[in-house]
Amino acid sequence: MKVAAIIGSVRKDSYNLSLARHMQKRYAGRLDIEIVTLNEVEMYNQDIEAVPPAGIQAVIDKVKQSDAVLWVTPEYNGSISGVLHNAIDWLSRGEKVLVGKPSMIAGASMGLLGTVKAQMHLRDILFAPGVNSPLLPGNEVYVGAAHEKFNAQGELTHEPTIAFLDQVVNNFIEWHGRHSKGFN
Ligand code: FNR
Repeated sequence: MKVAAIIGSVRKDSYNLSLARHMQKRYAGRLDIEIVTLNEVEMYNQDIEAVPPAGIQAVIDKVKQSDAVLWVTPEYNGSISGVLHNAIDWLSRGEKVLVGKPSMIAGASMGLLGTVKAQMHLRDILFAPGVNSPLLPGNEVYVGAAHEKFNAQGELTHEPTIAFLDQVVNNFIEWHGRHSKGFN
């Protein structure tokens, strides 16, 4: 399964980027995860949406070529980051490449609740008509106190989180298989 992992933080040492890198490495062979950063994405502007500029077009193409999307989101002021919302706004227009594209969410933050509020908002946004991305039900990945769970090299070292992620990814692969045959 080819998965586009969209990272909601553009920070060089982002915990969310580290989380995606962990998943890319750990599930290689089962999931072909491509990390999609948003550093080059232009500000959405309806005046130019008919011909998306190069930065967002690259993201559109990667989503289009993938079987699923993995959202890896930080929490900014109790919601998702502006860069992530901006990218979703682009993706919700034109070809609407998220519609029908199965996805799952994971998120890391330094707060104890680990992106709970951001993920609640993201779930709502994924229901919007131009987005309409079916979301893995019954599984939520919150990596709180991220500064205690990654080492200085950005590696996820917290064994309970690693084991939990293994279970969620198993569920995601199983659900994706059923979903692609038309079941939820
Ligand atoms: C934060 N942070 C934060 N954390 C949290 O748990 N809840 C929140 O509402 C916020 N709000 C917030 C706003 C802004 C503008 C910033 C810059 C940061 C802290 C955040 O979790 C921390 O910076 C993470 O390290 C961000 O994720 P990345 O960049 O490491 O992936």
